[in-house]
Amino acid sequence: MKQKIGIVGKNGRLGAALCRALADTYEVLPFGRRELDLMQPVREQLKGVRFDLLINAAAATNVDWCESHESDANQINARAVGELGALCAERDVRCLHVSTDYVFDGLSSRPYIEEDPALPINVYGKSKRLGEELLLQICPDHLAIRVSWMFGPDKASFVDWVLDQALSRDTVSAIDDKTSSPTYSLDFVRWIRPLLFELPIGGILHLCNPGGCTWREFAQWAIDTARFEGVRVKAREVQPITLDSMSSFLARRPLYTVLAIGKFLETTGLSARPWRDAVQDFVRKKFSGTQ
Ligand SMILES: NC(=O)c1ccc[n+]([C@@H]2O[C@H](COP(=O)([O-])OP(=O)(O)OC[C@H]3O[C@@H](n4cnc5c(N)ncnc54)[C@H](OP(=O)(O)O)[C@@H]3O)[C@@H](O)[C@H]2O)c1
Repeated sequence: MKQKIGIVGKNGRLGAALCRALADTYEVLPFGRRELDLMQPVREQLKGVRFDLLINAAAATNVDWCESHESDANQINARAVGELGALCAERDVRCLHVSTDYVFDGLSSRPYIEEDPALPINVYGKSKRLGEELLLQICPDHLAIRVSWMFGPDKASFVDWVLDQALSRDTVSAIDDKTSSPTYSLDFVRWIRPLLFELPIGGILHLCNPGGCTWREFAQWAIDTARFEGVRVKAREVQPITLDSMSSFLARRPLYTVLAIGKFLETTGLSARPWRDAVQDFVRKKFSGTQ
C-alpha cells in the first residue's frame, strides 16, 4: 500500500508542483484553501483525515499584504503552522514546512547557513520565523525548509513577468542591489524526496539553486536564454534600478539573502544545478510548450 502524504497549498507555485510530482510514488492528499483554511483552527478540518507525512507549502506570501495585515499573516504563517505541527506530533507523523530566506536581515556578506541568527526585518519574515519556532518547539523531528525566489511552471512569478515585459515593451528594468538565490520548483520536488522517509532529519534546512544573483541578473539571464531559444524579445538589456526607488513597496526587504545549501548536499549526497541552468530549463520548457 502506498504511503499517504498530505500537501497543504495545492494551488500554490510549489504546492502544485509537489502534488503532481509526488503522486507517482505516494498517495497524495491535496489541500487547497477550501479543504483546509489556515485562518480557521486546523484540528477540526483535518479530523478523520489520515496521512503518513504532511508537507505545508501554503503561506501568506505577499510581503506587502503581510505588512498591512499583521494579525492574519501571523495566523497563517505562524499559529496555523504550530497547530499543524502539534497535530502531526500527536499522530507521530513528521511535518515538513516550507519557510523563507526573509527570516534573515540581509546584512551578511556570505551565504547564510542554517545556524545563522534569524533577525527578520518585516512582518512576513517575522511571521515565517515564528512559524518555524512553533513547529520545532513542538517536535524537533519536524523540518522547516527555507527556500528563496521560487519560480516554476505552475504559477507565474518574477521570471514570467520579466519575459512578458520583454516581449511587449522596449525597456525592462529590475532591482540590481538586492541579491538572493532562485529556487526552481521542479528541482525542489526532486531534492526533497529522500527527506520524506529515507532521511528523516529534523530542524532547519536551506534549499535553493546554488549561486546568488540580483533581480536584474536573474531577469537578464531569462531574457538571454529566451533569445537563444529563438524567442523574439523587444527588450534585450535589463536596466538596473535600486530597491530604494520602489515607492510601491510597503515592507522593507533584506538586501542579501543567498542561502548556503551545504547541509542539504552533505545529508543527501545529491547535487543541485546552478540557478542559471535551472532558469534555462524553465525558459526552454515555457517557450516550447512542454511545461
Ligand atoms: N514565492 C517565493 O518567491 C518564495 C520565496 C521564499 C519562500 N517562499 C515560501 O515557499 C512556500 C511556497 O511559496 P509559493 O511561491 O508556492 O506561494 P504561493 O504560490 O503564493 O502559494 C501559497 C498558497 O498558500 C495558500 N494559502 C494562502 N492563505 C491560505 C489560507 N488561509 N488557508 C489555506 N491556504 C492558504 C494559497 O491559496 P490560494 O491559491 O487559495 O490563494 C496558495 O495556494 C511558502 O511557504 C513561502 O513562504 C516563497
